[in-house]
Amino acid sequence: MSKHIALGVDIGGTGIKAAPVNLKTGKFADDRYRIPTPQPATPDAVAKTVARVIAKFSPGKHTPIGVAFPGVVQHGIVKTAANVDDSWIGTDLRAIIRDYAGHDVHVLNDADAAGYGEYKFGAAHGQNGSILMTTLGTGIGTAMIVDGTLVPNLELGHIMIDGHDAEERAAESARDRYGYDWDQWIAELQKYYSEIERLLWPDLIIVGGGISKSHHMFLPELRLRAPIVPAELLNGAGIVGAAAAAAAADKVEKAEQKAAAKKEAKAEAKRSKKAAKAS
Ligand code: BGC
Repeated sequence: MSKHIALGVDIGGTGIKAAPVNLKTGKFADDRYRIPTPQPATPDAVAKTVARVIAKFSPGKHTPIGVAFPGVVQHGIVKTAANVDDSWIGTDLRAIIRDYAGHDVHVLNDADAAGYGEYKFGAAHGQNGSILMTTLGTGIGTAMIVDGTLVPNLELGHIMIDGHDAEERAAESARDRYGYDWDQWIAELQKYYSEIERLLWPDLIIVGGGISKSHHMFLPELRLRAPIVPAELLNGAGIVGAAAAAAAADKVEKAEQKAAAKKEAKAEAKRSKKAAKAS
């Protein structure tokens, strides 16, 4: 794969999707590949499938690979699994995927990936201030990007509204769960976003997830302080953001390794000088 390509993988409740992403344009460099998420979505079954979608694109040794996961991922470790198998909690996501795929990867929360993707290449491209990304799907994912810096693992889909976990009534899945028509769902969304705005003062709210394709059906109905706009990368935001975040993290890790090697070389030189003096 060329130097400007990174691979993005998005683990979802129903599908595991991947595509190579051109890091200059944010566009897919090849068709997206999708395999249904194995059920039950246990760590081994999912990691095996992730390895298959990665292998499909035969990434080079130095191709950055980013993997987005639908739960809190803190320093590579899965901390919550609201919409995937509970056995994920405590798993070293980075290590398990590396073992199955035979390639190092970077891992992050799916909404964080989507928010980063929208900041780099989509609806918030190059915008400063506080950008709130929300993804409406099986759950509600949230991410905040402040002056270009991602604040990881914001779990604002789980704030309590009327005594309920917000995502239960306002995620896209709630439409099926409760048989809501558009007006009923919009009323839930209004409650949700108003509460969010009571607590945070974002400059811009972005709405992603599959339903964002039908944004004209609900976004114009919402009365909010901040502008609320559909994601521009639609359902591809997670893949694009995961790829871009992996490329950025790779750069940081390489710089850190270089600095550590330089420090070690300096220390070694000092040691041999001392030893030479002593002999
Ligand atoms: C999870 C989040 C995730 C979101 C979207 C929520 O239930 O807690 O971590 O980002 O679903 O998948």
